[in-house]
Amino acid sequence: MNVIVTGASGLLGRAVVAEFKRNSWKVLGLARTRVRDDLVQIELADINAVSRIVREFKPHAIVHCAAERSPDKIQENPSRYEKLNVAVPRELAKLADEVKAVFVFISTDYVFSGENPPYREDDMVDPLNAYGVSKVKAEQAVIMNNSDSCILRIPVLYGGEESIEESAVSVLINSIKMNVQVQVSNLEIRFPSHTKDVAGIIYELVQRKLQDKSLKSNIYQWCGSEPFTKYEMACIIAETFGQDHDHLVPVNVASPGTPRPMNCQMSCERLENLGIRRNTRFVDGIEDFRKFFE
Ligand SMILES: NC(=O)c1ccc[n+]([C@@H]2O[C@H](COP(=O)([O-])OP(=O)(O)OC[C@H]3O[C@@H](n4cnc5c(N)ncnc54)[C@H](OP(=O)(O)O)[C@@H]3O)[C@@H](O)[C@H]2O)c1
Repeated sequence: MNVIVTGASGLLGRAVVAEFKRNSWKVLGLARTRVRDDLVQIELADINAVSRIVREFKPHAIVHCAAERSPDKIQENPSRYEKLNVAVPRELAKLADEVKAVFVFISTDYVFSGENPPYREDDMVDPLNAYGVSKVKAEQAVIMNNSDSCILRIPVLYGGEESIEESAVSVLINSIKMNVQVQVSNLEIRFPSHTKDVAGIIYELVQRKLQDKSLKSNIYQWCGSEPFTKYEMACIIAETFGQDHDHLVPVNVASPGTPRPMNCQMSCERLENLGIRRNTRFVDGIEDFRKFFE
């Protein structure tokens, strides 16, 4: 079996590539700047080049992980990322339809405002920031152009980071390492999910779609089962690796700048009804961070 993974050099894409390879699939991983191992370099905005690759490789599935995922960058200049975040998934959805591949588009819990959790798969979307808006537009474009596609909404990711800055969870290590007082948000609630869990869920969803043509839902959601603020995550990380956290000051005010949802807890009912669930405990998942304290 063959799969194309876009964003294969990214935090989630690396885990997705590893999961499909572990299950003996032939993987064509696409990257833009971090091209290494057997990844293939591509600018996804070049739709002709993407079409050629898809038509030649004839994948059974396409997992589209590539995107700009920084809410701050998109908020500053939404039109700059419109092509990557909206037009590219739309064109990939069309191509997947053409070659009869299962199409999985990775979306976010930021399609919700966070004011009225928990959110079910069919709840109205109401994004607070331009990143959420770009994902809503992409979801709609994907479904409109490939009525059999799968949208997977996921929360903040961690696990398998190559640098401390690579995830919104591992970056908390920078505050832990400071030896002056530092404020850490104790307001917004997140449900961090390990990249290996999400990769496993994507793999199982693709398998189900291939086996069961009657599976008609477009939207699926997955999120971790443990609610934490950033302050709580930082304390757990510090304690796990024997670090002091008395200098971390919990603050109950929203971070300035790009608006972010308060609590986007999502129901995972649709995946759970298919028997699909992966839940690494946070204290176990952060074992990956040990290297950042050595
Ligand atoms: N990380 C999170 O906490 C989180 C939370 C919710 C949803 N998501 C969603 O999950 C998906 C994966 O996120 P991630 O954290 O893995 O992202 P990431 O680490 O930032 O990786 C982004 C990937 O996209 C590739 N890419 C970016 N622009 C490209 C272009 N123009 N042409 C070709 N490739 C391009 C990058 O390639 P190079 O690096 O090689 O240039 C990289 O492989 C995204 O859709 C994101 O919105 C992420």
